[in-house]
Amino acid sequence: MKITIIGTGYVGLVTGACLAELGNDVFCLDLDQQKIDILNGGGIPIHEPGLEEIVARNRSAGRLVFSTDIAASVAHGDVQFIAVGTPPDEDGSADLQYVLAAARNIGKHMQGFKVIVVKSTVPVGTAERVGAAIETELKLRGSNATYSVVSNPEFLKEGAAVEDFMRPDRIVIGCDDNSFGNIARAQMKKLYTPFNRNHERTFWMDVRSAEFTKYAANAMLATRISFMNELANLADRVGVDIEAVRHGIGSDPRIGHSFLYAGCGYGGSCFPKDVQALEPTAQDYGQDLLILHAVEAVNTKQKQVLGAKIMARFGDDLSGKHFAVWGLAFKPNTDDMRAASSRVLLGELLRAGATVSVYDPVAIPEAKRVFALDFAENPELLENINYAATPMGALDQADALAIVTEWKAFRSPNFEQVKTRLKQAVIFDGRNLFEPALMTDLGLEYHGIGRSILTRS
Ligand code: UDX
Repeated sequence: MKITIIGTGYVGLVTGACLAELGNDVFCLDLDQQKIDILNGGGIPIHEPGLEEIVARNRSAGRLVFSTDIAASVAHGDVQFIAVGTPPDEDGSADLQYVLAAARNIGKHMQGFKVIVVKSTVPVGTAERVGAAIETELKLRGSNATYSVVSNPEFLKEGAAVEDFMRPDRIVIGCDDNSFGNIARAQMKKLYTPFNRNHERTFWMDVRSAEFTKYAANAMLATRISFMNELANLADRVGVDIEAVRHGIGSDPRIGHSFLYAGCGYGGSCFPKDVQALEPTAQDYGQDLLILHAVEAVNTKQKQVLGAKIMARFGDDLSGKHFAVWGLAFKPNTDDMRAASSRVLLGELLRAGATVSVYDPVAIPEAKRVFALDFAENPELLENINYAATPMGALDQADALAIVTEWKAFRSPNFEQVKTRLKQAVIFDGRNLFEPALMTDLGLEYHGIGRSILTRS
């Protein structure tokens, strides 16, 4: 099929590359010439396992084209995916300017019938606004072209996006229940046929419900994490091991094991943004989202939990203290630093007078960029960040090690070396990577999240 993807950001690029891999003829549009140049030069602008190979393979096969030519992009695809960013506005609501600009461009150039698929995460009612924007442009030029707007939210996890796209656990598609909607449904069915071979994974629904499903999924997952984080903080006080509790409740099939890991807070581009974006929608309809307020408040506090534990141990004034930090990205297998807990921790440590040595397998270039913004008002603090080339290299002369991201490379370090390299053998583990009893046996002072019972001997 002939597909156009508008926006070659994270979601657009993965969607375009994977649809090309399945044999579709894909045209990817982006207005950022630099990004298109990188892609046409054989590179990719983001770190995502497996993506570079798929892009290279399909580009050389001629099934994947990158361009800034709007008219050509609209002419190409019978199905036009809108996968542009929806960054938070000042009140937290999703900023739809890029989505609506994409819709207007389609309206300005389209001929015949087009299926417009909204892939970006957008509030309920956006598909209708996309339709209205197209309609206005068609009227302006007296065109009788026709279209149907479909909602097809993405459920891609960074670091596993190719796998999530190729082996989805569900495909959510919202179509209108009218004649154009029926044509759109048939086209979407054809496009997603390869994913439904063994069993049907598509859930068909109305457009508004599909738009809402994306927010509901992320809000539910964020709620589980904040719930466990709140219990973990209580566990620390009452002498309970939250990991034992996680096993104990996760084995109930009604609860399940996923997304019950307590830690130093969730970050990334989706959970924080989507939890916040539901609020203005609720307000528009006169409702207060009590649970989601709490989810966000708990997470904001949870990002401070490592800093609080460090200060409880070393005092509020950290002048003269030096800390090693393992992991900067908001999660493993990505260089994404959006809403990463490491940013909160570094802010606290540096502002309290400490110096740090940080290590991350891929996020250091991105970290340098975001820290320059985070410390724009105190640029002198940037001098107190040392970027280490190896995890062990970060430890020398540190008063403690803080672990923020659960990269696999951190899971089985040589603990003897950790002990000798650190000035004080103290670990603050924001992702509960290690067994507290083992740490005690090895002579390491260990502070996990919600694991106090085993460390009190
Ligand atoms: C999420 C959704 O999982 C995905 O379906 C959606 O399309 C986009 O948002 P992503 O942001 O890539 O994906 O990361 P995810 O793996 O969900 O983790 C989000 C954050 O939650 C990370 O900071 C992670 O460390 C944290 N997390 C996750 C926990 O603290 N505990 C858990 O149990 C799981």
